[in-house]
Amino acid sequence: MAKAFAPGKCILFGEHAVVYGHPAVAIAIEQGVNVSIEKFDDWVIDGKSFDHSKYPHISHILHDLFEYKGEPLKIEIESQLFSAAGLGSSAALSNAMGAALHKLIKPQEKLDIIKLAKIGHSAEAAAQEGRASPTDTATSALGGCIVVSGERLTGTEHVFDAELVTPEGKRSWSVCKAILPEEIEDVWLILGFTGEASPTGKMVANVADLLSRDPDKKSIMTNIKEITQRGLDALSVGNFEVVGMAMNECHEQLRSLGVSSDSLDRLVEASKPYSLGAKMTGAGGGGCMVALSRNPQRVSEQIEISGGKPMISKLVSKGVRLI
Ligand code: MEV
Repeated sequence: MAKAFAPGKCILFGEHAVVYGHPAVAIAIEQGVNVSIEKFDDWVIDGKSFDHSKYPHISHILHDLFEYKGEPLKIEIESQLFSAAGLGSSAALSNAMGAALHKLIKPQEKLDIIKLAKIGHSAEAAAQEGRASPTDTATSALGGCIVVSGERLTGTEHVFDAELVTPEGKRSWSVCKAILPEEIEDVWLILGFTGEASPTGKMVANVADLLSRDPDKKSIMTNIKEITQRGLDALSVGNFEVVGMAMNECHEQLRSLGVSSDSLDRLVEASKPYSLGAKMTGAGGGGCMVALSRNPQRVSEQIEISGGKPMISKLVSKGVRLI
């Protein structure tokens, strides 16, 4: 049997803008997806017959990317993430699946994490009508704090480049690691799930539609870009007060882009008194918000009182791994 774990992610700055080549800063979280695969006498997934249309990421990885033509497989997926909630559950699934499949098919070859991130990006794009940045898959694969941008940003360490032909034209991104302080003080991420699932592909398509109807809204993308750079600079020197302020500002811009929701706004507002900053994270329209706080229990309580489901993660976690 081959087993792998890949973490989910949380975008601190730059969601949506990154699809248009602006920078995004994302962090791997503690929680993620476990996948185990073994050869079997029939195709089975989570105890049921494998319906390929219900698992587009897995089908794409198996057939298009790995060109798997071997014996049927029994696949077990165990996710600790809220799904369709902005935490990169599909990217974590792609990465854990790719890693486990690699171990099963090529046990003697070292796992190439960058190749895995690229495979995951291709699977995300296939499932999101051709519009996907490599943010989720790269963060889940590499772990730590990842900066994805059309241009390389100063103060980051370049890891690989990614490109994609989207319905709006060809895009390319530079995937870099943010250099964070060695010792991170006692500060936590608190994710709050609204309970409303929100498919990323639909939200990304809504933004594309808005920008084509109202090109003036492109200035929101420029504002997000500036906030992201400020947030990243503060993160790099461990100035979490300024990181939090930038998160609050980023949330306001995402609201102007029409991707927040009443329940996201409610959880963000409820978290703020006990947080350094709070914002929606990921595609929005539902899904999750994130708060940065030195008092994670208090923020969790606030999220619960306001009707959300909280989850606490340390600030930086490792990427995909075989287990
Ligand atoms: C989704 O986690 C983040 C978006 O920016 C989409 C993407 O980067 O592919 C909304």
